[in-house]
Amino acid sequence: MYLKTILATALSATAIFACSVRPDIIKDNIANAEIQTGLLMEASEEGDTVRIPSSYQNGEIVYVPADDWVSGFFAGTLWYMYELTGDEKWAEHARMHTEVLEDIQYLTWHHDVGFMIYDSYGNGLRLKNIDGYKEVCINTAKSLSTRFRPGAGVLQSWNVDRGWQAERGWECPVIIDNMMNLELLFKATEFSGDPTYAKIAVSHADKTLENHFREDWSCYHVVDYDPETGAVRRKCTAQGYADESAWARGQAWALYGFTTAYRYTGDKKYLDLSENVAEYLFNSPTMPEDLVPYWDFNAPGIPDEPRDASSAAIIASGLYELYHHTGKAVYKDRADKILESLSSPAYRAEPGTNGGFILMHSVGSIPHGSSIDVPLNYADYYFLEALIRKANIEKGLPPVK
Ligand code: GLY
Repeated sequence: MYLKTILATALSATAIFACSVRPDIIKDNIANAEIQTGLLMEASEEGDTVRIPSSYQNGEIVYVPADDWVSGFFAGTLWYMYELTGDEKWAEHARMHTEVLEDIQYLTWHHDVGFMIYDSYGNGLRLKNIDGYKEVCINTAKSLSTRFRPGAGVLQSWNVDRGWQAERGWECPVIIDNMMNLELLFKATEFSGDPTYAKIAVSHADKTLENHFREDWSCYHVVDYDPETGAVRRKCTAQGYADESAWARGQAWALYGFTTAYRYTGDKKYLDLSENVAEYLFNSPTMPEDLVPYWDFNAPGIPDEPRDASSAAIIASGLYELYHHTGKAVYKDRADKILESLSSPAYRAEPGTNGGFILMHSVGSIPHGSSIDVPLNYADYYFLEALIRKANIEKGLPPVK
């Protein structure tokens, strides 16, 4: 019944937008996301359970356990739907999808708890100020802080005693993605008054700035440290094409992560770094015309390599904030162009298809043969976030509230 109703809505939405030459990109995407995210929400709550959808592959929705690094994005997507529409229905379901992650506040075996808890509980707290959510964020920051290696001044991203990471000979690997976990630490200091968390975040950002970037401002995916002395043991990749290549999502995390670090610290060197990363991205000879990157800027088969819509969405969202801090219109223009591309039929799925995910054509990890040219929940999350930021800017508000 629900499916019938939403597909009827889909058809009428398509008809409305087919009539107008250039639909309002925000309204158009909200109408589309109401259908798609509604479908995915319904599927993930079938049979009285709350499952965590991460992708759609071979005709099936892929669900992940709560300790997977992507577990917070669907809850976050539902919070963003609430923010975009004001419809309480989304907040109610967002809360259910958030609270299945409760135990993650005590997870210490990897670094991604910043993504997992800030995107779910953090957004819930920001939008609804729900009792107990602040404590979850502080506890998670405590857990993340156990990964700080004072001798090296960094948070260790991955453990090296299990899985494929154990085969690489690393001691204290730090991936550029880890910049995205710092916001939770800055927030935990705000919430608790304890400066320790923000100090750890600043130390980590400073070391990353010092060691992750090349002369052309592209960045390495992995830097391995001696955890006692802080000496750099190796610079390499895990998810990129080669050690010396520029993995697209890594560049996206760098731009977004350092812009966020600037928001919390006001330290100009972080903002300068983000601008330098943007220069690298948009001057790269392999950045396509539609600004949706190939999965790696140095992938050998370009132009016959998969695109990564998730990188494009993260970059767009980061660029709106970069525009806000610098006042440089070029960043907003590029973000707008990315959103236009992602909203086109080349990347945005037809309503009722794609397992309910909004965007097609993202890449998880080509070297691991996993999630190649598929929808991914974080692509949708950052796409909706970019729309919110654009909407705020166009109302004369700061992009990030
Ligand atoms: N943080 C893992 C990834 O970006 O694939």
